[in-house]
Amino acid sequence: MSQIVYLNGSFVAKDEARLSPDDRGFVFSDGVYDVVRSYDGRPFELAAHLSRLEASLAGLRIRGVDPAALEPVCGELMERNGLTEGDATLYIQVTRGVAPRAHRFPSPDVTPTVYAAASRYVPHHDPGAGAAAITVPDRRWTRCDIKTVSLVANCLASQEAHEAGAYEAIFVRDGVALEGTHTNFFGVFGGVVCTAPLSNYILPGVTRRVVLELCREEGIPVEETPMQVEELRGADELFVTGTTTEVTALSRLDGEPVGDGAPGPVALGLLDLLRARATRT
Ligand code: PDD
Repeated sequence: MSQIVYLNGSFVAKDEARLSPDDRGFVFSDGVYDVVRSYDGRPFELAAHLSRLEASLAGLRIRGVDPAALEPVCGELMERNGLTEGDATLYIQVTRGVAPRAHRFPSPDVTPTVYAAASRYVPHHDPGAGAAAITVPDRRWTRCDIKTVSLVANCLASQEAHEAGAYEAIFVRDGVALEGTHTNFFGVFGGVVCTAPLSNYILPGVTRRVVLELCREEGIPVEETPMQVEELRGADELFVTGTTTEVTALSRLDGEPVGDGAPGPVALGLLDLLRARATRT
């Protein structure tokens, strides 16, 4: 059975979905996206992802799409693709639309291209097992808070991590360890969970926000504070968070063991709590 996707108001077989080569998403990566994880048919924090999509659209000044209207689309995609049980991901992308190539926006506005797909989630890693990461210079633009499809710097860094046998690359800008290519980054220092404060240099991760809430509920002290890369060697634990990453403990950074080299209790505890929240009825 061919996967059914949503494109510009219609549900179509993926093989039959057609995009214009003049789509500004293709030509300029002039678009935004979001990814949602569904646990046993229940999309986790869908409203938060759709409101971040709204903020991303506003960031690129793309008008004419109501992200809230995509909620039933997500439900229908899961139904039509037999994903109401088991784990799945929802991918939503909106571009400025189709127009002859010119850098400035088309005037008047063209209709944005809206695409969404639901796929079975096949994990590539075990979050509880401990993963390796490397640090890399942050070569992205300075609006990392907008979830644009302009991800080539993330792709290059992710490939560098892969070639180094690591799961993730952590971006470092001006000596500060900010976030991963597709994750937010945390350290545990003397029992305090630290992560970069929200700014234009990181994505406001939905999982990051949930993990901070879980820490507060559990009485674990948190500090949203910049972490200098040289401080990381002294961390008790390091971990990354994200929609597909959940809470993944880092056991090695740049080839050196983190703490005693085993996934730490804070990361493992938060992974359990996150999964409990995502799957609770
Ligand atoms: N990435 N930072 C970056 C740069 C990201 O791309 C992501 C998510 C995150 C974590 O955000 P969240 O917890 O809301 O998933 C942080 C998605 C999953 C992706 O690109 O596939």
